[in-house]
Amino acid sequence: MKFIFITLFPEQIAQGAGHSIIKRALDAGLLSMSCINPRDFTTDKHRTVDDTPFGGGAGMVLKPAPMVAAIRKAKEQLPDALVVAMSPGGKTFSQQLAEDFAVGGRDLILVCGHYEGFDARIFHWVDLKVSIGDYVLTGGELPALVIMDAVARFIPGVLGKFASAVEDSFSTGLLEYPQYTRPDVFEGLAVPEVLRNGNHALINRWRRKEALKATWLHRPELLGQLTKTDAKLLAEVQAEAAAEADKPEEK
Ligand code: ADE
Repeated sequence: MKFIFITLFPEQIAQGAGHSIIKRALDAGLLSMSCINPRDFTTDKHRTVDDTPFGGGAGMVLKPAPMVAAIRKAKEQLPDALVVAMSPGGKTFSQQLAEDFAVGGRDLILVCGHYEGFDARIFHWVDLKVSIGDYVLTGGELPALVIMDAVARFIPGVLGKFASAVEDSFSTGLLEYPQYTRPDVFEGLAVPEVLRNGNHALINRWRRKEALKATWLHRPELLGQLTKTDAKLLAEVQAEAAAEADKPEEK
């Protein structure tokens, strides 16, 4: 899968993609990326990419001509790519959308804004606007890197042999259960006994119960329709929480 970033700050993209799993995947050719800088398509002496907004107001707006020229250049290189603009007003990014992008297999042109935003006419050249959350960042580079990272995890071979993005939090519909490694006891905190006894049926049951507990406590809206087994495990979690709440306070 190929990614082209339309960005005024290609160094930020190179830096963001230059480490760990994503770097390894790029080196292995499992994905590829490049940047196109709209500033290279300016025609004036100062290489101007932004201007003041019509109608007044604070901040600067990205001019349409350099942005559209950069998108056109990217489309020449990847004619079938989906053009996605980073925008706090876009569709909220999610694990599902990451999987859809990866499974769909279309190359992605990720358009990064800066300053107060894009001249709205740019969106005629864009297929989809995506937001990574309800907060406003100074630019679209971090959101674009977030999207490439989350999508890349679904590309076969990017994660280790035995890891799978399909088993992650959100892909399973639940938050993750807690994980532990050695030592058995750290600063007086012990690893739950069940994880050390090697009974895989019990370990799986405990993990499922912990995932249900975390989801119930922190993201109850994700719970939806539960299977009979999950409903029983969640009832256990809730009974244990109620018993815990009823305990007299330790002095
Ligand atoms: N640009 C600025 N903030 C953003 C956000 N939350 N998501 C996507 N692009 C953005």
